[in-house]
Amino acid sequence: MKLKLFFAAGIAALASSAAMADGAALYAEKTCIACHGKEGKKPMIPAFPKIAGQNAAYIELQMRDIKSGARANGSSAAMKGVMVNPEGVELVTDKDIKDLALYLSKLK
Ligand code: HEC
Repeated sequence: MKLKLFFAAGIAALASSAAMADGAALYAEKTCIACHGKEGKKPMIPAFPKIAGQNAAYIELQMRDIKSGARANGSSAAMKGVMVNPEGVELVTDKDIKDLALYLSKLK
């Protein structure tokens, strides 16, 4: 029983570190880095947000809202373009959003 629990904890830790690695790769691959800067700390212009260390749940919500168009204030249209193309094809999936949110939330 103890061994089983230990094993389960190990799998959970592995899964979460895999998501972290995916998040870091996605951050570069999906061009987030171009606007939000290295590790989400140095936005391209001061009107773009720093996102490192933000709560994962909040990051996830904001990304979903920008993607769906529910959040369309300020310059969010610029970001929407990297999440969904003009034909409506999804470029950043909900799984990507989760991995990105986890990665960004762990940055200091
Ligand atoms: C073309 C530039 C651009 C790209 C590329 C981009 N963003 Fe953004 N992002 C913005 C802007 C601008 C905002 C703020 C929108 C506004 O003015 O309300 C924003 C907002 C956000 C927010 C919400 C921040 C908050 O405090 O509410 C998060 C989280 C975020 N971006 C993450 C990402 C991630 C992750 C990626 C990569 C998939 C990405 N962005 C790609 C420009 C960009």
